[in-house]
Amino acid sequence: MVVDPARLEPLFTSDAIAARLDSLAHEIAGTMPSNFVAVAILKGSFIFAADLIRTLTAHSLNPEVDFMTLASYGTGTVSSGTVALLRDVEVEIHGREVLLIDDILDSGRTLAYARRHMHEKGATAVRTCVLLDKTAGRPDAMPPDFAGFRCPPSFVVGYGMDHAHKYRGLPFVAIVKGD
Ligand code: IMP
Ligand code: MG
Repeated sequence: MVVDPARLEPLFTSDAIAARLDSLAHEIAGTMPSNFVAVAILKGSFIFAADLIRTLTAHSLNPEVDFMTLASYGTGTVSSGTVALLRDVEVEIHGREVLLIDDILDSGRTLAYARRHMHEKGATAVRTCVLLDKTAGRPDAMPPDFAGFRCPPSFVVGYGMDHAHKYRGLPFVAIVKGD
């Protein structure tokens, strides 16, 4: 399905994201040890993770970086409800503190899966960082340790996030109107 660009309503500008990343990196630098592993969950987090990790470096953190690919959406806008591990990390996780980086926390299934997977590999602590937190107002949701912004319960694209694999390259986050 193709989304008409006229249906994209900007939600977070690139300037707002850059400013928030700086304060987020400051928060993370105050919590994580210097020797942690940053695991970005692909694909949606790739631009957020790239910017966040460079901002962490500017805050004198130098994590090992790896990636895992998880999928639950296919090409639709509604989660399929099951999480599939398409690519695992390569770095040694045993005995390490891990920061999971994802684009959005919604139902929490993706991060719950990733967290469990890291604990099974022997991580001593697993924290989560998301750009957008959609869980506000849901008392049952597991809150992220670090979150960039609260996000309304709409489908969003841009800054790495897609609709049927499109719009990942937008430098801002936009709501897909009418979804
Ligand atoms: P959860 O497993 O329900 O928490 O969903 C989180 C995953 O779904 C994230 O990794 C996102 O990639 C994806 N996702 C959730 N909401 C959106 C959205 O509005 N736009 C694009 N991807 C989304
Ligand atoms: Mg994702």
